Amino acid sequence: MLNGKNILIGITGGIAAYKICELIRLFKKQNANVKVICTPNAMNFVTKTTLQSLSQNEVYVDQFAIEDFKPEHISLADEADIFVIAPISANTIGKIANGICDNLLTSVACAFQKPVIIAPAMNSGMWNSNAVQGNLKKLDNEGYHILAPEDGFLACGTTGRGRLCDIGKIFDKTVEILAQSKTLLGQKIVVTAGGTIEEIDAVRYMSNYSSGKMGICLADRAYELGADVVLITTVRVEKPYEIIGVKSAEEMKQVVESEFANADCIIMAAAVADYRAKTISDKKLKKTEENEITIKFVKNPDILKGLCDMKTKAKGKTPLIIGFCAESEDLLKNAEKKIAQKGCDFLIANDISRKDIGFASNYNEVTVFRSDGGMKKLEKATKKEIAKQIFEEIYG
Ligand code: CTP
Repeated sequence: MLNGKNILIGITGGIAAYKICELIRLFKKQNANVKVICTPNAMNFVTKTTLQSLSQNEVYVDQFAIEDFKPEHISLADEADIFVIAPISANTIGKIANGICDNLLTSVACAFQKPVIIAPAMNSGMWNSNAVQGNLKKLDNEGYHILAPEDGFLACGTTGRGRLCDIGKIFDKTVEILAQSKTLLGQKIVVTAGGTIEEIDAVRYMSNYSSGKMGICLADRAYELGADVVLITTVRVEKPYEIIGVKSAEEMKQVVESEFANADCIIMAAAVADYRAKTISDKKLKKTEENEITIKFVKNPDILKGLCDMKTKAKGKTPLIIGFCAESEDLLKNAEKKIAQKGCDFLIANDISRKDIGFASNYNEVTVFRSDGGMKKLEKATKKEIAKQIFEEIYG
């Protein structure tokens, strides 16, 4: 499974460091090339001799101690297919999340362009702290694969969450990531996410409960599969791919349409408002003596329909167009009608009346409709998993 793969292991200072000896052995048994970088503190828990014997390679700690000095952090980062940092301490998580490069391991992490797995291990108080969770959120947003620690007896004598996850889990995740082929390499995938924001006056707007999570998971998945991704979003996110922030439906339409000619696939996961205020006051509207107020709304352009019309008229290569469909009743009947009305290649239908899935939830359950009349239900799963399955439906 790992034959010839170059795995770089990072070890930081924590008692779980000794468990990584077993991980190296598992990788070597699969014929992987393993190199190890330790932080100076890791050396308090494992010896260089042990790690060198198991990895059959030099163990790197201090880049300035290398006699024939070359920028080791760049060459180690370049030659590895994956970087597995386990155990990773609260300290190293904080440094990597904030771009601090004060040792070889953190410098390599900063320069690393390929997948990184991190498996934290620490005292449960540290794990639950706002600082550590905030830093992890940053790394999660940047696409790091985080293997959360498990509950159990901790070296500090307490019981709680903080124990390094099972070594088998780190091994399996490494295999899973390295086995993933970059099936969307060279493809440009454009995804919209979030609810549009339609201004009413200088301080008020109309929007909806869309969190943008489904669209973001789709963009993440496309990126994992090697695509050149553009995420057009009303929700602020930081990602390793291109993000274009927009507010209103009009703005979203302009940006999406400007991507049409170069896109291979456009996924309209955004919850676009059907109407906007006819006039937007640049001042705050004042309260009046009346008990009622009337605001006139006018129809927004249907971006998805517009894209499908552009596709019908265009000559040459055109993108696949994927729509979403939010329904609170008669999901399947309405979805069938909607795919025909809009003219898109696929329509992903979800039931927004359910509280356990959809808007703001981390879970979803959808039915994928194809323009040829076929359909497939994707059972309830995390939005990340649903995104994976949607790409399997689209690209086979
Ligand atoms: N959509 C769009 N522009 C709009 C409204 C919706 O591009 N003005 C897109 C959405 O991004 C989604 C699809 O159309 O991909 C379906 O959106 P949905 O809200 O389910 O349906 P609507 O077309 O708005 O129709 P209705 O609200 O009547 O169900």
